[in-house]
Amino acid sequence: MKTIDDLPVIGFSSEDYDRQPFPILADYARRWKVARSERGVELLDTRTSRKSIVNPRLGTGHPKLMEDVLGMPEGRVLEYKRNSISYHNRGETRRKLRKPVVQFLGEDGCERFRNDVRHVVRTIVEKAPADEPIDVIKAICDPIPSSVYCYWVDAPLDHAEFIARTSHTVQQVHTRNPERTADVVAAFDAMMTYIEERIAEARENPGDNLISDMIRSADAGEISESDLYVWMVKLVEANTDNTSHQIAIALIELVSRPEVWARIGKDTSLVPVAVNETMRIRPRSISTSRCAIEDVEIGGYLLPKGTSIFANIGAAHWDPEFYPEPEKFRLDRPERPAHLNFGGGMFSCLGRFTATMEVEETIALMARRFPDLRIVDFGYTHSPMFTSVTNLSVVLDGS
Ligand code: HEM
Repeated sequence: MKTIDDLPVIGFSSEDYDRQPFPILADYARRWKVARSERGVELLDTRTSRKSIVNPRLGTGHPKLMEDVLGMPEGRVLEYKRNSISYHNRGETRRKLRKPVVQFLGEDGCERFRNDVRHVVRTIVEKAPADEPIDVIKAICDPIPSSVYCYWVDAPLDHAEFIARTSHTVQQVHTRNPERTADVVAAFDAMMTYIEERIAEARENPGDNLISDMIRSADAGEISESDLYVWMVKLVEANTDNTSHQIAIALIELVSRPEVWARIGKDTSLVPVAVNETMRIRPRSISTSRCAIEDVEIGGYLLPKGTSIFANIGAAHWDPEFYPEPEKFRLDRPERPAHLNFGGGMFSCLGRFTATMEVEETIALMARRFPDLRIVDFGYTHSPMFTSVTNLSVVLDGS
């Protein structure tokens, strides 16, 4: 059987890739099902990617990332990581660990936060000046998810800035750059101290919020005290960064198609399909990682235990067999196949319903209120892992 050395080599560092990654990924996928890059093995073919995301022989890529790639030092941050969901492979422990969060943040569970989310979105959008250029990332995209987290942990809203800033820093683990490790560890450390304080405070004053629900789960013996703490850190870690970028991406993609922006403003029942198509055409997640738990054969290649493997979401989203004319933004695309922006299976994103709700509520309000919203300037950058918005300046009432 062929080995990793026989794989074609692809790269993600060219200017062309940064400018238009999706046609490039689609082109790679037309040529090869599997390839290799500097970071590991790249699955380009849609069927191979989808199967690998749920393949029981592929586990979490986190331990390798934290320890081998980033060289995270021993200490309480690495200890937290080791106890968190991200270090657990498939099996009963992972299923049990996910259970309370699936319950509280699942499709039905997170509906109870809808009024809070609506209130947060309205308050934040209304505060922004409408007749001059604003930095939307600072004024809207960051404050929305981080303020929602404040509701979850019953914190004053002025904690949102800390939550957003530390979430952006810790998510830099995905740059796979060890030069970022010291900052990442410091931000995790600050988050962990913060969560200790929030848990102590919520124990004193329990309420109708996520942190109190998790405390009640711990008190009922459904999760351990350590799981409670680790989960609240995990949720603050994952909360802001991806959602903020996703709100910004949705704004850019929808406003830059004026006919779509006008349609969804007049009929906000179209917002969920518009957001869905945004996540398909320019997903925040361009790939998701796995690690071979044992020797495994994929696409005719033998991949040894320990190989880092990346399912390419960007290539799958621009595969014309599944999404005809993938470069076209279409509100009438069939719902299936579902996009992969949130991964899938036992590792799927636990924040996907709340993140989608936050993006939808923001877009619905802004399209309704600001039909003449005008983009002054924006920038995208694309790594092998993410679409990121580097800057976004708009005039809300651009009439
Ligand atoms: C638009 C925003 C978001 C995107 C694009 C996103 C994307 C992802 C992706 C691709 C994964 C890996 C899935 C896989 O490998 O199969 C993931 C995992 C995860 N996400 Fe998100 N995420 C977002 C927002 C959130 C939010 C708001 C939270 C929490 C409040 C969150 C919590 C998590 C957790 C806990 C995991 C790990 C799940 C596990 O290992 O079992 N995410 N996310």
